[in-house]
Amino acid sequence: MLALSGITVSYGDRRVLHGVDVTVARGELLAVLGANGCGKSTLLRAAAGLEPAARGGVRVDGEPAGPLDIAMIFQHIHLVRRRSVLDNVCAGALGRLGLGQSLVPALFPKALREEAMACLDRVGLADRAHERAGRLSGGQQQRVAVARALCQRPRVLLADEPVSALDPAASEHVLALLAELAHDERLAVLAVLHQPSLAARHADRVVGLREGRVVLDGQPRQNVDVLYQPTVVKAAS
Ligand SMILES: Nc1ncnc2c1ncn2[C@@H]1O[C@H](COP(=O)(O)OP(=O)(O)OP(=O)(O)O)[C@@H](O)[C@H]1O
Ligand SMILES: [Mg+2]
Repeated sequence: MLALSGITVSYGDRRVLHGVDVTVARGELLAVLGANGCGKSTLLRAAAGLEPAARGGVRVDGEPAGPLDIAMIFQHIHLVRRRSVLDNVCAGALGRLGLGQSLVPALFPKALREEAMACLDRVGLADRAHERAGRLSGGQQQRVAVARALCQRPRVLLADEPVSALDPAASEHVLALLAELAHDERLAVLAVLHQPSLAARHADRVVGLREGRVVLDGQPRQNVDVLYQPTVVKAAS
């Protein structure tokens, strides 16, 4: 289980997250919804240990999160386009193997290449392993990014708008894949989405953020319009 508790982030004197509590169980796909600027990416960065301004607790299965427990995938896919698909997936394991970026791809150990092939097979792209990553479509590249994250062997997978650049069919495919990984591999998966309908179809639970606070947490098929309505400014009395 991923447990975020009291996550608070301020930039200067502006607070953008106000003590956010969110849990994601192993085996669960949680969608995080909310309007632009409500703090979704900041929350993910805090969860991944990438936000220096963050305060609060990040625990995985009851322990403080370690650097390899949590893998992250992004809207803008960071693959090395000139390298093969397989090399890109192997790179996901470098941190776990303590190799940093020191290893040239030609020297990736055989066992790692086999594991990376299995991760590619998991996302349905084993047959593209030896092509340059840059040759694949956006949706396929995002699935490679998922395979690379899997090769890290994380317990938690965070995805910030993983399908924003994808067409509707590719979006369905990637979301179905994330749900399957949660359910079959018992990962805790948290995905920021901008389409409530995608969340309704694929997520097990939805959390809604508004102005840095959790304002709903529950069934994926609930009405989430409140997240996107303009703020009512109360007149001073
Ligand atoms: N490094 C930073 N310095 C100052 N302000 C920041 C920084 N990062 C984010 N913010 C501010 O924090 C607030 C939340 O930003 P965040 O990127 O988390 O929103 P978001 O919900 O991911 O929005 P979007 O849907 O547009 O991606 C915004 O007002 C943003 O301007
Ligand atoms: Mg964002």
